Amino acid sequence: MAGTEKVDLRGAAATLLMTLYMRRLDARSRRPILGDPYAEAVYDRIEHDVHGLWQVAGDAATIAARAAVLDGWTREFLGTESHGQVLHLGCGLDSRPLRLAVPPTVRWLDVDQPEVIDVRRRLYTFPEHVVQVAGSVTGETWWEAVDPDRPTLVVAEGLFMYLRPATVHAVVDRVVDGTRRAELAFDAVSPWTVTMSRWTPTFRALGTGFRWAWNPADFAHRHPTLRELDDVAIIDELTIRHPRVWLRPLLSAAGHLPTLQDAMRLHRFTTR
Ligand SMILES: C[S@@+](CC[C@H](N)C(=O)[O-])C[C@H]1O[C@@H](n2cnc3c(N)ncnc32)[C@H](O)[C@@H]1O
Repeated sequence: MAGTEKVDLRGAAATLLMTLYMRRLDARSRRPILGDPYAEAVYDRIEHDVHGLWQVAGDAATIAARAAVLDGWTREFLGTESHGQVLHLGCGLDSRPLRLAVPPTVRWLDVDQPEVIDVRRRLYTFPEHVVQVAGSVTGETWWEAVDPDRPTLVVAEGLFMYLRPATVHAVVDRVVDGTRRAELAFDAVSPWTVTMSRWTPTFRALGTGFRWAWNPADFAHRHPTLRELDDVAIIDELTIRHPRVWLRPLLSAAGHLPTLQDAMRLHRFTTR
């Protein structure tokens, strides 16, 4: 078995440990939602000093359902665009390109901050067509790796809420203006969730929190050429997928409350 790897991540980069920890919990559960076959082995190889991850255990089903929906949308894209390109932004330590077995005709870019890509390279072995790009999406360098001529899918999971609103819109503009045609799949949280994140103990300990909230009118105004394909409330997904079957009717009832319905949603847009 490969040895362990010491990682020293701070701020938003350290939040990848939270999502990986939750995917591992899902994978170990009796009825996994995502069943990521890599999460447990990868998590167990990491030596880190981030304490209190157990506090996010209650969100494991949410995180697994979010990943499962985005996997489904990515599979659809891979099924129709055999020579397409996927920009996996803020990829963290997610195994998505491996668990979806991306075909070699597709160009896949995993993009994250340099310290994250460094750890990612140490923990995974990727095929040649799965390219690791070290760079913040706030900078210029990551875009140099993008092929503007391929049909493109952007998958940004658990990323945009950590960015400043202007950065989110700049990334969307860059994809819309810089590719021939594209789809964008991402999750977003409500203004209420952003406020709540200031009080979340794990975020406080990591010195990070959410900065961008979903505002449909503002998004439509800033990106008038985009057409929405899907808009899914995570709580609705949980009413179908939650491993504790007895919880599903309760979640279904709770889902009628607008605060919970909008807490986290998944969006898919196209430039066509
Ligand atoms: C909550 S984690 C999600 C990771 C992964 N998508 C997942 O679902 O496990 C947030 C990720 O966004 C990355 N991130 C935050 N700001 C970024 C930026 N400016 N450019 C690139 N990645 C960024 C972090 O390094 C981290 O890997």
